Amino acid sequence: MTISIRQIHPVFVGEVSGVDLRHPLTPEEVAAIEAGMDRCAVLVFRDQNIADEQQIAFTRNFGEIENSAGGTVTKAHEKRLNPLMNDVSNLGTDHQPLARDDRTRLFNLGNQLWHSDSSFRAIPAKYSILSGRIVVEKGGNTEFADMRSAYDALDDKTKALCETLVCEHSLMYSRGSMGFPEFTEEEKAMFRPVRQALVRSHPNTGRKSLYLASHAGTIVGWPIPEARAFLRDLNEEATRPQNVYSHKWRQFDLLMWDNRQTMHRVRRFDDTEVRDMRRTTVAGDAPTTQQVAA
Ligand SMILES: [Fe+2]
Repeated sequence: MTISIRQIHPVFVGEVSGVDLRHPLTPEEVAAIEAGMDRCAVLVFRDQNIADEQQIAFTRNFGEIENSAGGTVTKAHEKRLNPLMNDVSNLGTDHQPLARDDRTRLFNLGNQLWHSDSSFRAIPAKYSILSGRIVVEKGGNTEFADMRSAYDALDDKTKALCETLVCEHSLMYSRGSMGFPEFTEEEKAMFRPVRQALVRSHPNTGRKSLYLASHAGTIVGWPIPEARAFLRDLNEEATRPQNVYSHKWRQFDLLMWDNRQTMHRVRRFDDTEVRDMRRTTVAGDAPTTQQVAA
């Protein structure tokens, strides 16, 4: 089999064929996928009925796996999956949908806001790899926005301004904006804001992108309302329809995206139906700014 990647959206997203992710990849296959990620930023693999161990092995081709600790309010004993997996399902340890008022469920509803995975970590994630083990019939699309095109579309003055700015990102901002009730002292310490540059350059292609997420709650040195108004405006521009791809899930689809070049969000679905989505995350290798949060 030979890997081929066909771009399926005018500005990004490739559909990959000719590879079975259950088996170890050759160095050439890994290189072809990396090159596809550099170009398309999101890759769609169809019909990949893989187990957790196979997903972990596939993920390791692209770097260290990011540990899921510190990114959720779910306690260790409430976790359904191996700590190398992020549970993006709507399920508890009994594999049934969580109760309506379950704290984990309320927290995970924040995934309906545009974000980049782990932008709330000092060294944010490189890739995310999401496997659709059980998908819902209606709703639950994952949408992606190309943040390179978003940057390209800014006028020169706004580009120059954004280049100088550093934002503070925290899960407390994104969940707080949805009215998530009270964080414990331990969670407040865990979700302490981190600083991220607003403009990033891709290490391989040099292309610039806007680094936004619902986790970004303020801009260093700006009054908070001014920062939030500016960030909302940038988000609105960045997620205009021409920059967005909406993925309708089929069972055993596997999606891979570059968090340095894209944002994403899940759309609403019937939360009483089982939706079992499992994510592995490739850790990033450097902070985006030398500025460290106070
Ligand atoms: Fe996400």
